[in-house]
Amino acid sequence: MYDIHAHVIPNIDDGPKDFNTSLDILKEMYQQGIEGVIATPHIRLGKFNNTISTLSSAYHQFCSDLGERHDIPKLKYAAEVHLTPDLVPWVKNNKVPYLAKKDQTQYVLLELPENHYPSGTNQLCKWLLNNGVIPVIAHPERCRYWYNSSAGISALVEIGCLMQITASSIIGRFRQESMALAMGLIESNKVFCIASDTHNLTHRSCQMLSARDKINNYFDKEIVDDLFVNNPKMLFVNCINDCA
Ligand SMILES: [Fe+2]
Repeated sequence: MYDIHAHVIPNIDDGPKDFNTSLDILKEMYQQGIEGVIATPHIRLGKFNNTISTLSSAYHQFCSDLGERHDIPKLKYAAEVHLTPDLVPWVKNNKVPYLAKKDQTQYVLLELPENHYPSGTNQLCKWLLNNGVIPVIAHPERCRYWYNSSAGISALVEIGCLMQITASSIIGRFRQESMALAMGLIESNKVFCIASDTHNLTHRSCQMLSARDKINNYFDKEIVDDLFVNNPKMLFVNCINDCA
């Protein structure tokens, strides 16, 4: 499996607070069968004021502290970018840590607010798509305004956005509504990939293996492989932010 959304770099957001916890998280991921992880610390103005430069230095420090290991997944980095109109200048000035770059296309992990859908979101997504940037929407199943109708998600998929569901939602670690929405979106073929959104070893731990076990019971192998392996692997392989 490949995981394109995880908070595993120590002391940079609300993920692990120390190196040993980060290492234990990565070991757990590897034991679940995850071969590659894109670390995605938050960029959220006023709360997590990360930039390409803070992310890059934290990542490189972490890699050097890890050294050469064979008991953890391969690690690259990008960011989980909270929705902001600043994305326009950031894209223009090449200040976005993208998940991946493939041919002329770039992919950004985009987080929307959980409780309200800001006006202008569709226009911003259209602008990104017109400028060669595909939004990968982080955990749409956790957005409360979509609990009763997923028409807004369908509209984003129709213009070209991709949807990432969080593994914990599938096994019911969040609200019941999130689990129902996640399963419905997979059923209707609106999901690009599953990711862990791991933050720690307790209430926000990696649940990729148990989510895959559950999805295996409901969907064909081809669908499961696309969600957990093929699609996230395409992003991981094309993620240019690594230790090289
Ligand atoms: Fe996240």
